[in-house]
Amino acid sequence: MSRYAYVNSAFVPHRAASVHIEDRGFQFGDAVYEVWSVRDGHLLDEQGHFERLYRSLDQLDIRFERSQSAMQVTIHELLRRNRIREGLVYLQISRGVAPRDHAFPATNTPPTIVLTAKRFSFSAAGRRAEQGVRVITHEDERWDRCDIKSVNLLANVLAKQAAREEGAYEAWLVDKAGLVTEGSSTTAWIVNADGELVTRPLDNHILHGITRKTVVAVANAMSIPLIERAFTPAEAKSAREAFITSASSFVMPVVQIDNKMIGNGAPGSLSLSLRDEYLRAQ
Ligand code: PDD
Repeated sequence: MSRYAYVNSAFVPHRAASVHIEDRGFQFGDAVYEVWSVRDGHLLDEQGHFERLYRSLDQLDIRFERSQSAMQVTIHELLRRNRIREGLVYLQISRGVAPRDHAFPATNTPPTIVLTAKRFSFSAAGRRAEQGVRVITHEDERWDRCDIKSVNLLANVLAKQAAREEGAYEAWLVDKAGLVTEGSSTTAWIVNADGELVTRPLDNHILHGITRKTVVAVANAMSIPLIERAFTPAEAKSAREAFITSASSFVMPVVQIDNKMIGNGAPGSLSLSLRDEYLRAQ
């Protein structure tokens, strides 16, 4: 079965899908994106991701005129054409195609829309969650507007690659003050000795995770105390539990940070129950 992508206003075979070489997403990273998980044909945390998409566009003054409902129809048509009921949807919107110049192009330049969908096995991810994953710590070399979900991901790419080269799943980024901001593509959490959840407060130095938001609601419903404050790698290494969250990993237990095993080296019970409850809440 051939796979389809959606570019601007057409469904095209994935292998032939392309954008112009003068696209500003390609030239400058002048684009935003979103990722949704798809389970049973539904987009998880659908509304939250759309809200963040329109906020990112607004923050960068990218004029995107299609409504959320129009985009929902397009996404579901793409899933239907690809016969995907379990997978991931990727949406990218750039400031469009224009002769290369750092300043914005004419306001009537249409944005470029790219939409792809792929199968993804959540049962394989579930098996990984039963083992837990390793993370390394890495310098946070990013800019000051990490709250915008832009495709400018070079510092994230380098950090993730450093993790992979050390056989780890994720890199936790550490800012100049010595505090963990977030993972290269995930939100970072720990559980302290009192059984409280700790995660960094929402500011410009992290992406405002949509999975984070749902996990906060789930934790509230489970009466698990939550403290929103930054923590150091040292505190994380002596935490009772650690985990990461994202649209594609849901809640993923962390069992080792650098060379330090977390707890007894097995996924924490609170992390695993938050994973179950997160999935049940969808
Ligand atoms: N990553 N922090 C960063 C830097 C991220 O890139 C992501 C998401 C998150 C978690 O956000 P959410 O829970 O809304 O997925 C935190 C996506 C999945 C990606 O880049 O593929």
